[in-house]
Amino acid sequence: MGCNIQEMHFLNYFEDKVFKTIKKYRMMGREEVICVAASGGKDSTAALYLTKRYFQQYNYDQKNLFALLINEGITLHRDDSLRNLEEFCKSEDINLKIINVKDNFKTTIDESAEKLRSVGRKPCMVCGIWRRYLLNKHARALGATKLVTGHNLDDESQSIIMNTFKANTSLAANLGPISGVKEHELFVRRIKPLYHCTNEEVELYTKIKGWTLDYCECVYAEEGYRFQIKKMLNTFEGKYPGTKQGIIKSYLELLPLLKENLSERIQRGEIKICKECQEPANGDICNACKLAKELVG
Ligand code: FES
Ligand code: ZN
Repeated sequence: MGCNIQEMHFLNYFEDKVFKTIKKYRMMGREEVICVAASGGKDSTAALYLTKRYFQQYNYDQKNLFALLINEGITLHRDDSLRNLEEFCKSEDINLKIINVKDNFKTTIDESAEKLRSVGRKPCMVCGIWRRYLLNKHARALGATKLVTGHNLDDESQSIIMNTFKANTSLAANLGPISGVKEHELFVRRIKPLYHCTNEEVELYTKIKGWTLDYCECVYAEEGYRFQIKKMLNTFEGKYPGTKQGIIKSYLELLPLLKENLSERIQRGEIKICKECQEPANGDICNACKLAKELVG
């Protein structure tokens, strides 16, 4: 990688920002086992690479770091990104685990897309629920104490607005640089080292690095609610720069209250165990199992 002085400065600035975020929120410690949710896309690859660099910088045991990919069965974008990620992990000497949606739910996102549309559901919404479920379940089974995700400032500001528009107050507590709460042994807490990096910054970083990555959006993204929110926020940001930062800032001020409320709900026993799969659930059956039943019976 040959880069000019400006690029060099940018790489340093970006890496410094990510390391400061990890330290500020005490995202990972020496004895922890860290799983990085990887997809072969720019954000998760940057998060994976910088987690590894962080491990090196502080002499953490590299055996305590691995990547986990959930293969949703989206032929158009997953095949290339999977190959890219395998190459990347090989060159960085990172252990990669792959979990297939099909093995867990007997169908894939491609196979169920038509059926989902016919009942008014969006493929990305279902994919999100299954992916979160499988990441938590398998990261935990593999001994991870934290799960790194590649969410950046743009993703987070979209999620905050989505939850606000949909009045999903209980989900709102699950956002933030470290999501979830400590008290529940079935949840692996998710950490977001790219929390304060914009989408443009992550893109620039990965392009200067020259990695072979999948920069395309999910093929079903345009159908989803998030896509509309993203368009709206980008328009706002264009007209009123600082909008996304403002959303994050106000959210972080409210976060302690939201976490307190979530802890109380957990202590009151409002988080149940799914009767089908024994994973955490809001009701008798978790959302992931409910969707699988709807689709394949
Ligand atoms: Fe997985 Fe869109 S279907 S993100
Ligand atoms: Zn379940």
